Amino acid sequence: SNTKHFNFNVEWKSVTRLCHTKPVLTVNGKFPGPTIAVYEGDDVEVTVTNSVARNTTIHWHGVRQVRTGWADGPAYITQCPIGAGNTYTYKFTVLDQRGTLWWHAHFSWQRASVYGAFIIHPTTPFPFHFSLPPIHAHIPLIFGEWWNRDIEVVEREMNLFGGGPNSSDAYTINGLPGPFYPCSTKDTFIQTVEPGKTYLLRIINAALNDELFFAVANHSLTVVEIDAVYTKPFTTTAIMLTPGQTTNVLLTADQIIPQDHSTEGVFVMAARPYLTSIFPFNNSTTIAFLKYQTNKPYPTMPPHNYTLPLNLPAMEDTPFATQFSNSLRSLASQDYPCRVPTKIDKRVFITIGLNLQDCPQNQTCQGFRGKRFYASMNNQSFVRPSFSILESHYRKFKNNGISSDFPEKPPYVFNYTGVNPVTENMNTVFGTKLLQVSFGTRLEIVLQDTNFLNPENHPIHVHGHNFFIVGRGFGNFDDDKDPVEYNVVDPPERNTVGVPVGGWAAIRLIADNPGVWFVHCHLEEHTSWGLAMGFIVKSGKEPSQCLLPPPSDLPPC
Ligand code: C2O
Repeated sequence: SNTKHFNFNVEWKSVTRLCHTKPVLTVNGKFPGPTIAVYEGDDVEVTVTNSVARNTTIHWHGVRQVRTGWADGPAYITQCPIGAGNTYTYKFTVLDQRGTLWWHAHFSWQRASVYGAFIIHPTTPFPFHFSLPPIHAHIPLIFGEWWNRDIEVVEREMNLFGGGPNSSDAYTINGLPGPFYPCSTKDTFIQTVEPGKTYLLRIINAALNDELFFAVANHSLTVVEIDAVYTKPFTTTAIMLTPGQTTNVLLTADQIIPQDHSTEGVFVMAARPYLTSIFPFNNSTTIAFLKYQTNKPYPTMPPHNYTLPLNLPAMEDTPFATQFSNSLRSLASQDYPCRVPTKIDKRVFITIGLNLQDCPQNQTCQGFRGKRFYASMNNQSFVRPSFSILESHYRKFKNNGISSDFPEKPPYVFNYTGVNPVTENMNTVFGTKLLQVSFGTRLEIVLQDTNFLNPENHPIHVHGHNFFIVGRGFGNFDDDKDPVEYNVVDPPERNTVGVPVGGWAAIRLIADNPGVWFVHCHLEEHTSWGLAMGFIVKSGKEPSQCLLPPPSDLPPC
């Protein structure tokens, strides 16, 4: 195999959007950051140099990190942060994954600007080679958010006041908000395409707090891959991604553009949130343009006349969201078999949601009814320690406040479908409890949303493993009825699942990657409030089933 080396320098860069200029944390001065492109099977080394007076870490979102948990990146879970002026080289191998993933900072809310694409080229032919048109070129589209204010201030307020949503000022496509926002017309992403050609759009939702719909005017999209796993191809008018998810789609430039200069040959690409809330979330729309190559010169500014794609779902379009999620299926072919466990060794039932706590004295809180929000899994709000849990686990340190007794069911049995099932779910316990399983455990996790003031699907992300979404539904999970309906033939395989608002999702995985893995809501605000847990997979009996020793340059705390 080959070794691919990259250098990441974390540095400040002055960036202007919406006529607001502020210093932004970047990698190599780029916003969004540089793309990493490797081949399946490559050994990857990324030397991260921290040139700012802040701690930082980088996470390779969706890369399985088989036996190399030391390179996973979440601060205080698998490593101590890289301190100011220090360097750490992330070393890992990309095994049995192909497609689009991404990387982002995993310290505080730094991923607001520190993120980029992580592309894994396959070493075997694209499986749809014969049935779908050949791909002419690849187009990465990364969705993000922009705050006019300093993101560290936004984060601090959110931690202090436990407030409602911290609305961003714009959504972005490849770092650019587009002309729907004030003072933003020149900051618009424009992609030229050749008429008749087919393109692979590599779409990443790097937004901090919002699940997004995406559509291209007059064009359909054929989904071929999610979270770097092939799917059964299907054609749709729009797609939807939670923060953390990636989706590869084919788009054919099949519109007829008269060459007589009567039209500019541009089509709007747009992303807007799926939210179901009364809260003043950012409900705006970011747009970019697809520009057919015509005799007209390439535009440097967007056209004057355009409308939003009619095929872009409206906010709160739950029927579309549900139908789209239900359309996703693993390829489950001979070359790409679906490895979903048909039997399980262990099932854990976990409620996920928000909690309310009294406001500290002499403070004003921005939660609900004058209180402040926290968030939890089984009413446990996860507290990150000030050391690396993985190191503590590897060196068998004791009595440091972490324990492996994460509750395998919620403390209360209550009805999650009530209009406001507030009362029972108020309390949360703060601590660092982990779930521990032995190597090879076939694990099922049922995630139940408690439906308390939660405006969108909770995107639950599991580090170190892909999982299979065997079931998903609204209301209370029914232990007698729902498992009977599970799909154990071709369920979608991913690393992040959107648990429906007021509903549940059942996922299965094989715990075959020894180490300590973070499991959390990929809405940054919810992670900060404690909607997270840790999950320990013990090493197996064979040497090949053991966590590798820590690298010598692993940062100390
Ligand atoms: Cu994309 Cu724990 O993160």
